[in-house]
Amino acid sequence: TGQYDLVVVSNRLPVDKVIADDGSESWRGSPGGLVTALEPIMRASEGAWVGWAGVPDDRSEPFEHDGISIVPVALSAEEVELYYEGFSNDTLWPLYHDVIAPPTYHRDWWDSYLEVNQRFADSAAANAAQGATVWVQDYQLQLVPKMLREIRPDLVIGFFNHIPFPAYGIFSQLPWRTQIIEGLLGADVIGFQRVADAGNFSRAVRRLLGFTTKGTTIEVPIEDAAEVDGRPHRTRVSRRGQQVRTVTARAFPISIDTESFIELAHRPDIQARAAEIRHELGDPDVVMLGVDRLDYTKGIGHRLKAYGELLEDGKIDVGHASLIQVASPSRERVKTYMQLRDEIELTVGRINGDFSTISHSAISYLHQGRPREEMAALYLAADIMLVTALRDGMNLVAKEYVASRFDNDGVLVLSEFAGAADELKQALLVNPHDIEGLKEAIVRAIAMPQSERSRRMRALRKRVIEYDVARWSKSFLDELAALTHAQSANE
Ligand code: G6P
Repeated sequence: TGQYDLVVVSNRLPVDKVIADDGSESWRGSPGGLVTALEPIMRASEGAWVGWAGVPDDRSEPFEHDGISIVPVALSAEEVELYYEGFSNDTLWPLYHDVIAPPTYHRDWWDSYLEVNQRFADSAAANAAQGATVWVQDYQLQLVPKMLREIRPDLVIGFFNHIPFPAYGIFSQLPWRTQIIEGLLGADVIGFQRVADAGNFSRAVRRLLGFTTKGTTIEVPIEDAAEVDGRPHRTRVSRRGQQVRTVTARAFPISIDTESFIELAHRPDIQARAAEIRHELGDPDVVMLGVDRLDYTKGIGHRLKAYGELLEDGKIDVGHASLIQVASPSRERVKTYMQLRDEIELTVGRINGDFSTISHSAISYLHQGRPREEMAALYLAADIMLVTALRDGMNLVAKEYVASRFDNDGVLVLSEFAGAADELKQALLVNPHDIEGLKEAIVRAIAMPQSERSRRMRALRKRVIEYDVARWSKSFLDELAALTHAQSANE
């Protein structure tokens, strides 16, 4: 056993290895919400983070970063291709996002997924202290809970799925569907973004394995008697007289570090930058904004279509309105992503060609990631935020926009297919497939009176302030801790 009481396992570490042109190496922190939420908890308890450095063949030894122990897991160039680009992002990603793009099924991708998941499980097992809590993140690592439990039955294991979990009719396409379900059921608590995702998972458990589910509890029959002795609190006798282990599967909607966006938005330099952005656009009356990873799940094409038609119809004029689209590069070696980039850039080029003037662009398109400071300035500069995902686990951009608008202004147009729509009900909810509906929502957002904007934004902000990412991680870890306590009480 290892020394850490809390081990977080995710495909990507909270730091990326950067290799410069001259071959020199350094680590760059990616201050995402998950890291921000877990940092204080990791520092307070003996915590370690197990994951991949983001480059092939990295053999780095464990090290400390901002008070967190970082434990790198190596992936070969071939594994990056088969496990990461292949099975994770060309099989599971499109399948779990309702087959917006067709998933590819390759047996050698699956073999690599098995092998790499085992490596992550081995590393977590080697680093976790007796009775420790291990929290596994996301679809790249769905087999880790079962693999981990087999090596270390003493551990309390949590899993959180950051992306949607599809309906059974879609999930059942997967040739390895049973292994995935069994892999996840190795956890004590399985978290999902939406109630619907947890429901889809429970249904798959019933259909594929025939296990009984009662509300958020799943009864997993016990084959190994040691399981009963080790964790009496998580076992019971089912109605059919069988020893079962109980697994909780329910929704824990993730959030952002709300406070940090509020702070950024209050900074005078960031407010000045927001004003400068509007000025550089030619001081239009209406600034619209889209911010996405360049991914086919985000509905960027649908958004551009609606915007282009509004220009065409004369409902909006260049000079009067302007759209900024930030599309950060993502998974660039996967073919579907290359094709998407070509499509989007063709569309942007066409719209700009048809409608821009020398002084005003219809669309300002940025194929680049931007620092958080610049994002906050963009949020402040935007009268209308367009989130038109065709399917999205949560969509944190929607929450970041709301958090930044301490002025209680700005309109959020939000796809009902993003998990965030379950919480952000005062947004203008849209079906992005319905281009007419999307156009109407944009027109409505442009015309919305100040009093209505303010009323809606206040309600949205209340939600995002109350439910931030610290609250999310606490509720998940509390659920796991309840098991640990019940365990020691039984010893
Ligand atoms: C989504 C997934 C994450 C993933 C991120 C970036 O948010 O849920 O697990 O890390 O996209 O994708 P990447 O493939 O670059 O890690």
